[in-house]
Amino acid sequence: MNIRICGTGSALPERKITNDDLSQIMDTSDEWISSRTGIKTRHLATEETTTSLATEAAKKALADADMKPEEVELIIAATVTPDHLVPTLSCEVQREIGAVNAVAFDLGAACSGFLFALSTAQAYIASGRFKNALLIGAEVLSKIMDWNDRSTCVLFGDGAGAAVVRADEENICHVVQGSDGAKGLVLACENRPVNNPYHKMESPLGYVSMNGQEVYKFAVRTVPATITKVLEEADLETEEISLFVLHQANLRIIEAVAKRLKQPMEKFPVNLTECGNISAASVPILLDNINRHGMIHRGDKVVLAGFGGGLTWGAAVLVW
Ligand code: ACO
Repeated sequence: MNIRICGTGSALPERKITNDDLSQIMDTSDEWISSRTGIKTRHLATEETTTSLATEAAKKALADADMKPEEVELIIAATVTPDHLVPTLSCEVQREIGAVNAVAFDLGAACSGFLFALSTAQAYIASGRFKNALLIGAEVLSKIMDWNDRSTCVLFGDGAGAAVVRADEENICHVVQGSDGAKGLVLACENRPVNNPYHKMESPLGYVSMNGQEVYKFAVRTVPATITKVLEEADLETEEISLFVLHQANLRIIEAVAKRLKQPMEKFPVNLTECGNISAASVPILLDNINRHGMIHRGDKVVLAGFGGGLTWGAAVLVW
């Protein structure tokens, strides 16, 4: 038993912030940000929450899949910025959409989160436990940014994407995943410190820190290798792939991956220009963009790839 994506949805906060807007509040410029990353604008939450964005994306994905909330059997939400530690984002979305028959849990794999959710759903569905799943990647990263650190805060945005997958005997979907905890601190965010009557730790609130050059090296080395591996496992040639839907961290990373795979940039859709990097939400938002713009057709072979904190990475090849 395999899976097919049969519906997508996405949601972005209303407030759009340009690079020039940022240059009004910190020492940066459109030239610095766009030449190094390709990012021009990002959407930042004001009234929106991770739950409200995830719910909107989930409702759109269910409508696109023509599926009623009560038919959903499994909800997996990938996020590093849930509104609460408990209840989880997936349970909050379950409540909001009325998916009363679903099992719901969250999964943390940073920017690879959506790929890890897809892989988990595929394994559950292959085992016969569930017949469908609602997968969500949602982040309000602006709440874990240090807005005094121009080297990180300009890179990220807020938003949510969702996809409905169903069991499909005919389809192919291969996934490769990896992790390297030893290099985790190149991209990190502290949680609350231990603080109880027997041990007190003074620690500032946790914000994202990153060694950009190490992340860049990791991405351009690992992503092409992972895509090559998943294509080998599926017995497919790179040329047979219609689109490569990559995590939207940085245009230079995407260009380097395209070059290493010897594929034209036209096969690599990009939305980081408008959205910035939205971690676990990047891949499902981009999937929804290409689905709604008619850039993908039934029978097309598509590669999805995520990479980021952990370190973690994953790639999937599937037929649309
Ligand atoms: N505006 C203006 N100047 C800045 C800014 C900014 N927003 N941020 C940093 N600078 C300055 C630095 O202070 C430094 O100045 P100095 O030379 O006077 O000390 C200079 O720019 C160069 O800083 P670097 O950190 O060396 O910049 P670099 O050229 O490496 O570019 C970048 C940074 C874009 C993050 C790059 O390392 C990169 O592409 N990394 C890939 C990682 C990535 O994209 N991560 C995204 C999130 S991770 C993920 O999703 C997997």
